[in-house]
Amino acid sequence: MRLSDEPLLHTAEIAARVVELAAEIRHAYGEATFTVVVVLKGAAWFGADLVRLLPPTTTVEFIRAKSYVGDRSAGPPEFALFPESGITDQHVLLVEDILDTGHTLAAVCERLLKVCPASIKTCVLLDKPSRREIAVDVQFRGFEIDDHFVVGYGLDYNEQYRALPAIYRMLPE
Ligand code: XMP
Ligand code: MG
Repeated sequence: MRLSDEPLLHTAEIAARVVELAAEIRHAYGEATFTVVVVLKGAAWFGADLVRLLPPTTTVEFIRAKSYVGDRSAGPPEFALFPESGITDQHVLLVEDILDTGHTLAAVCERLLKVCPASIKTCVLLDKPSRREIAVDVQFRGFEIDDHFVVGYGLDYNEQYRALPAIYRMLPE
């Protein structure tokens, strides 16, 4: 696999959309305080940019779900890190890098519900709707993309390319 020459989404485009998403989120929560739960590792970059535009009372937790090997979903995610406290009775905004089949987000929501948050809303930077296998409620969505495997801005291919500031497609050699 190799990187596309041109980004699919340029750094400035991503940054502008993050500003818009933050405005949508602030508007939706109004005066209510909430906890951002960032799904590691991929959403760490997006989450860090997003929370800097949210109210200063916003609290942040991390959850670690791993489901992909190479460019293939490896079934239901395993939780390597789970924020036991800090979620119960809180309004939770789940922040994920990309929604693909939907299995990861569905499993994360199911796991979070076990610790009784006051509510869960979901924000994804990227959505590949053509790949959906399970319905997932998403309130905030950055970009809809076609069925490409993408890397950069936190997204990886076998752990590489997360550090790229823009989002690129992975192409066959
Ligand atoms: P599902 O299929 O469960 O997938 O909705 C969501 C998780 O899979 C990863 N994923 C990708 N990672 N480029 C990536 O780097 C992609 O194009 C891609 N598609 C899915 C991602 O980690 C997400 O948490
Ligand atoms: Mg991920």
